[in-house]
Amino acid sequence: MSKVTVVGAGKYGSTTAQRVAEADIVDEVVMTDIVEGLPQGLALDMNESRPIVRFRTKVVGTNDYADTAGSDVVVITAGLPRKPGMSRMDLLEVNAKIVRDVTDKIVAHSPDAVIIVVTNPLDQMTTLAAEVSGFPRRRVMGQAGMLDSARMAHFIAEKTGADILSVRAITLGSHGPTMVPVPSLCSVDGKPLTEVLSKEEIDEIVERTRKGGAEIVGLLKTGSAYFAPSAAAAAMVRAVVLDTKETMPVCAWVEGQYGVSDVYLGVPAKLGAAGVEEIVEFDLTDEEMAALREAADAVKEKVATLDSLEG
Ligand code: APR
Repeated sequence: MSKVTVVGAGKYGSTTAQRVAEADIVDEVVMTDIVEGLPQGLALDMNESRPIVRFRTKVVGTNDYADTAGSDVVVITAGLPRKPGMSRMDLLEVNAKIVRDVTDKIVAHSPDAVIIVVTNPLDQMTTLAAEVSGFPRRRVMGQAGMLDSARMAHFIAEKTGADILSVRAITLGSHGPTMVPVPSLCSVDGKPLTEVLSKEEIDEIVERTRKGGAEIVGLLKTGSAYFAPSAAAAAMVRAVVLDTKETMPVCAWVEGQYGVSDVYLGVPAKLGAAGVEEIVEFDLTDEEMAALREAADAVKEKVATLDSLEG
């Protein structure tokens, strides 16, 4: 039986569970949360949508990790979201406790799972889940690049008036201020972005992309984005479950690629049943390469903060 577990039945978790269930690619989607009744109620509601949307995947809501046993993929969304004015780093201490606890429980019941972390601050929470799980690094990854790239694509489509589906955008680096949008690999209708927009217009888009999450937090006042984030997480789940080997920008463990080692960093990676099956090395400009290395140093520094919390 194929099974995906989503930990945390809040906004991000429930929409991810819904998207994966509606894709009808696994037998069961399990949603778990510390709040009693919440995952059960949402699961019942989703199951009742099955005859209308027409999918067979069964959704299970639970507070008991025994029900998550034998999952192929586990998405960790448990944790607090940002409030206006907060940076993702402000969530570090409280979410580290949650992610550590959740990872321990997941691993006890699903020793062969691929873990996808989305809880913020993303780069550290992915590192933490990898350390706590003791899994091979390829089986633990984070979601950020898919979302940031989609946000950038939307801004490019808005600016150029192009069909959103003809825009290609990609961001690498960290999920935060050292995010590295890569204009040299972006295109509109197959034309390089640099031929379609001026440097000033591209810089403006890059800046808005870097602050894309905060823009939505500021508008919502409570909570953070979840429609595009859950679409990104569900796309990664699909690639692993169906073993598609698609290349996606994800937060993955790098070991020498792009001249960077021993850190979780946003890079293009081929996803399949084994998790991150290969890190793909695109040609970057010198400036983009320097920005990526700078992002790696920033993540390493942030991870050191995590170590001091543990000590
Ligand atoms: N185990 C399981 N679930 C937990 C735990 C825990 N130890 N601690 C908290 N939760 C649950 C909460 O009960 C809540 O239902 O996590 C859920 C979080 O949901 P929301 O508050 O709606 O937050 P959401 O928007 O889903 O964001 C979750 O994703 O994008 C990131 O920054 C965001 O870190 C945040 C995470």
